[in-house]
Order: sequence, then structure tokens, then C-alpha cells
Amino acid sequence: MSWHEWKRGVEIEPSIYAADFANLGSQIRVLLEAGVRIFHFDVGDGHFVEQITIGPIVLESIAPIIHDGGGILDCHLMVSEPERHFEQINAAGGDSVTFHVEACADPAAAIRLARELDLGVGVAFNPETPVEAAAAAAEGADLVLCMSIHPGRSGQSFMPEACARIAELRTLLPDYVSIQVDGGIWAANIAEVNNVGADLLVAGSSIFWQGDLAVAYRTLSGMLLRATTTDRL
Ligand code: DX5
Ligand code: ZN
Repeated sequence: MSWHEWKRGVEIEPSIYAADFANLGSQIRVLLEAGVRIFHFDVGDGHFVEQITIGPIVLESIAPIIHDGGGILDCHLMVSEPERHFEQINAAGGDSVTFHVEACADPAAAIRLARELDLGVGVAFNPETPVEAAAAAAEGADLVLCMSIHPGRSGQSFMPEACARIAELRTLLPDYVSIQVDGGIWAANIAEVNNVGADLLVAGSSIFWQGDLAVAYRTLSGMLLRATTTDRL
């Protein structure tokens, strides 16, 4: 299976980093039931980013729930030397790995390794990294992740300059390469980031920090639908 089969057009990906870990399984089930297909899973190593987040052991516990529900685990590796972890992520049930260009000495080799393991693969870049550098490193990848915050934690504000960076990226990548955006995505800006070219929209606090997760997911989806309908009028 690959991203082309996983994606149903534009996808909103709940970011598990923002979950209530005492109730992780039930929160995931609620979101599967609400129609989520792709879950975003943030690995932070306390080195590339300050935060130590979640890793293969948590992945192993939730992968069967997600796969049984028809879902996919999209792993965002905020770690140094990311390629060292691909095999473990794969063994724990991850379906795709996205690594940072800033953290990887040889992106082409990392993309090849991901393919050998039959993983989907993406290239991420930070707000300070030139867009062209990310696009150049993404040859052979399924997606490019444009960070709209400094990576590390959920709940930060969207950096508005990300919109111009996404638009520029769209002109540099072939159509079949998806653009993912991660950080500060809420109902107020989700349609805009989609309009400028992002089709994989990561949402942490705007889903998991809300009272009713299903309603929060549907609210974000509704904003996309509304924007499409208005465009057509
Ligand atoms: C943080 C992570 C994000 C995070 C997003 O660097 O990469 O995926 O969970 O959270 P929000 O949507 O709250 O900015
Ligand atoms: Zn992330």
C-alpha cells in the first residue's frame, strides 16, 4: 500500500502528540469512528528537538487498533540521524516515515532505505530552511512537510509566512508529491493552507485539546467543505 491508496483527496491527520495518553486507545477509536484515516505520530529525541516525545513502544500498542480500523500511521521523526530508526518504526507498525532535511546527512539514501522497508516516505523542513533545499532533497519522496511552527510541541501558534512557503513549494514539486503542513492548524486557517497547496493537514491541539474529538475533527473537515462549496458558487 502507498500514499496514493491511503489518501482520499485532502486528509486531516490528528496528531497523537496532543492526545490524553491515559485514554489513548479510546481517543483513537473515537476518531476512527468519526472518519479519520491517517494518524500523525511525532517522535522527538531530546536532541534534534528539545522534547522527548513518543516512540516505537507506543506505536506498537496503537498500530493494531489503527490498522484494524482501516487507518494508517504517518510517523514524523523529529530526531537526529533519522534513518537509524526506520527499521524499528517499521517493525512497530509505522506505515510511513517523514524525516527532517536538517537532521539527515544523505536524504537520497534515507529515501532509498525507507523504500527498501516498504515504507511511505516524506521530507520535512523547518521555518528557517530554504524551500528550494527541501524540494531538492525530496526527489523520490511521497510528501514534503512544511513546518508552520518550530518543531517540538503541540499548541503553538501558526506562523503566517508558512502560506507563501507552501505556495512556493507547490510550484517546485511534481503534482503527485503531497504537501503536508504541521503546526497551529485550526478552523480559522485550515482552508487557507489547503488553498495554497497543502493536502495533508496535521492537527494536534485543535482536535485532541477539545471536549469532543469527533466534533472537533468534523468542524475542521467542514471548513474545507465550506471553502470548496464557496469556490464553486
Ligand atoms: C510538533 C509536532 C506537531 C504537533 C502539532 O512539533 O510536529 O505534530 O503535535 O500540534 P498543533 O496542531 O497543536 O500545533
Ligand atoms: Zn508533527
